[in-house]
Amino acid sequence: MKGTYMLATGILAVSLVLCGYGCRSHGVKIGGPGGLQEIPVGDFSSLTGDTATFGTSTHNGLALAIEQANAAGGVKNLPIKLYTEDDQSMPDVARTVVTKLITEDHVIAVVGEVASTRSLAAAPICQQYKIPMITPASTNPAVTQKGDYIFRTCFTDDFQAAVMAHFAHDQGYKRVAVFKDIRNDYSIGIAKIFEAEFTKLGGTITGEQTYQEGDTDFKAQLNTLKGQNPDAVLIPGYYSEVGTIARQAREIGLNVPLLGCDGWDSPKLIQAAGNALNGCYFSDHYFSKDIKDPAMQKFFADYKAKYGYTPDALAALGFDAGNLLVDALKRAKSLTPSDLRDALATTKDFPGITGKITIDANRNARKAAIIMKIVGEKKVLYKVYTPEEIDQ
Ligand code: PHE
Repeated sequence: MKGTYMLATGILAVSLVLCGYGCRSHGVKIGGPGGLQEIPVGDFSSLTGDTATFGTSTHNGLALAIEQANAAGGVKNLPIKLYTEDDQSMPDVARTVVTKLITEDHVIAVVGEVASTRSLAAAPICQQYKIPMITPASTNPAVTQKGDYIFRTCFTDDFQAAVMAHFAHDQGYKRVAVFKDIRNDYSIGIAKIFEAEFTKLGGTITGEQTYQEGDTDFKAQLNTLKGQNPDAVLIPGYYSEVGTIARQAREIGLNVPLLGCDGWDSPKLIQAAGNALNGCYFSDHYFSKDIKDPAMQKFFADYKAKYGYTPDALAALGFDAGNLLVDALKRAKSLTPSDLRDALATTKDFPGITGKITIDANRNARKAAIIMKIVGEKKVLYKVYTPEEIDQ
């Protein structure tokens, strides 16, 4: 442990010496010879791999926000330049590309990732180099605990899992089984928080089974869960497996409602599930074409015009993270990462399309969640839960 710490400190010291004051992004001079000609911002996400729709949507939303900000004159008379990296849905690659963004592209902030496991991999690097990192979508509580340079603009799983526990209780489910992805920090976190909250509300957890990302045969675990006779099954996983799990559950005669969280949000979910998720529910960020908010509707139209298809919640979260960053860059005393960090930390009532964002003392946001219901092969807005309702 001590050795690792010393090694990390050594690397930091060497990189500071190498970078020194000559490091382009760490100077505050704007324009002119040797000054900043653009504001370099890093963007890392899963553009390919298991959860490619997560990264693609987020990147598109972020790029749209930056494009609109640049069209409106940029920040401090400079355009923002996005440096985009694909982490292929892998935590190790996330580490590598974030190091590259910081040490080679000299970005002054990093936006990413979606998946908590990959944000947890990258956050210590941003913290070590003192470059602010903003995750638009990672909900695991531990992400922002990595240090004072790590921010999130979405709600946490303390809230999301509590919402699902309240929802299950409100639906009248008394006995709920849990099927989680054992290699996914997000999945493990939600299972734990849900189980505690649902039990507190008087419910019973009938049992837990596990799978791993990439598995294709879930029938043994599903049979065990079926034997416990639950009223519903919580599957806090990603769309990449949930569609197949749902089909196999129906094949073995496990016909109760399946419950999920934001990881179900992908156009690919229903493609894989077909009709197997009819009558199921999942929690998601506050974003739906059924919400008649003018800013949200404008985003739907702008996104569709640019990319040719309808955005999902990830796209909206990427857009909000981008706009919140632009706001902080404008308010920052200078373009040093540390002044930017301070500006981010004092964000108050920022009008995101997925809700008003105030960054709290733990660098998290508190926002409403929605419950989506799957009806046939369509997703419809079913219910909204505000933080105030869940606190009571
Ligand atoms: N909240 C998920 C995580 O932390 C990521 C996610 C966000 C997935 C929004 C889909 C929609 O891993």
